[in-house]
Amino acid sequence: MEIRSRFQERVVVHIPDLPWVPSPLPGVDRRMLDRVGGEVARATSIVRYGPGSSFSEHTHELGEEFLVLDGVFSDEHGDYPAGTYVRNPPGSSHAPYTEEGCTIFVKLRQFDVEDQTPVRIDTRSAPFVPGAVPGLSVRPLHEFRGENVALVRWQAGTEFHEHMHMGGEEILVLEGVFSDERGDYPANTWMRSPHASRHKPFSKAGCLIYVKVGHLAPERFSPFAFSEADERETVS
Ligand SMILES: [Fe+2]
Ligand SMILES: [Fe+2]
Repeated sequence: MEIRSRFQERVVVHIPDLPWVPSPLPGVDRRMLDRVGGEVARATSIVRYGPGSSFSEHTHELGEEFLVLDGVFSDEHGDYPAGTYVRNPPGSSHAPYTEEGCTIFVKLRQFDVEDQTPVRIDTRSAPFVPGAVPGLSVRPLHEFRGENVALVRWQAGTEFHEHMHMGGEEILVLEGVFSDERGDYPANTWMRSPHASRHKPFSKAGCLIYVKVGHLAPERFSPFAFSEADERETVS
């Protein structure tokens, strides 16, 4: 299966326009943002767990990163309420479940294999620091070999300078409206801009965005080879 898998192309998705696709587990549905592979996939998805649902135990051969958008996600390691950012490094495993239900933004198989740092951050209580221009504040989430992840808050009326995305840029608009010279992107927009693309972003109304850069360098989107050992991995 290939969905928006040409990483050299710019894509903009209004997430509510996408269908919910049932997963193999009852009560767990997905909106597929990008995907290379079947049930074992390099994938970026919105995953909705219904109340009381669970997912089978699985190993993240190439890592799992997620941000809890609403509800409470749980596994044997803890409970992760809305606003929690989690990275489960390559080789980690868990058996997820939820009591009240939850929705998460999740990226699978997109780690550098040597990135072994587990991350758990409550972004709703974590401090933001001043960004590169007035009106911008940043909550760094992770950095490894040029891959950089952060939440960025834009006060109303903030303008940023034109810049190039070395290694690409991916944005999930969490609140408000993010804009650039190509358009306006309200909450629940997901966009992926390729390596060496440029834009000049701003926000008239203010916004909160998840931003990941540096992971779309050409050498990192070569086809993924799956091993026998990966057969046990499933998408959560
Ligand atoms: Fe940008
Ligand atoms: Fe998982």
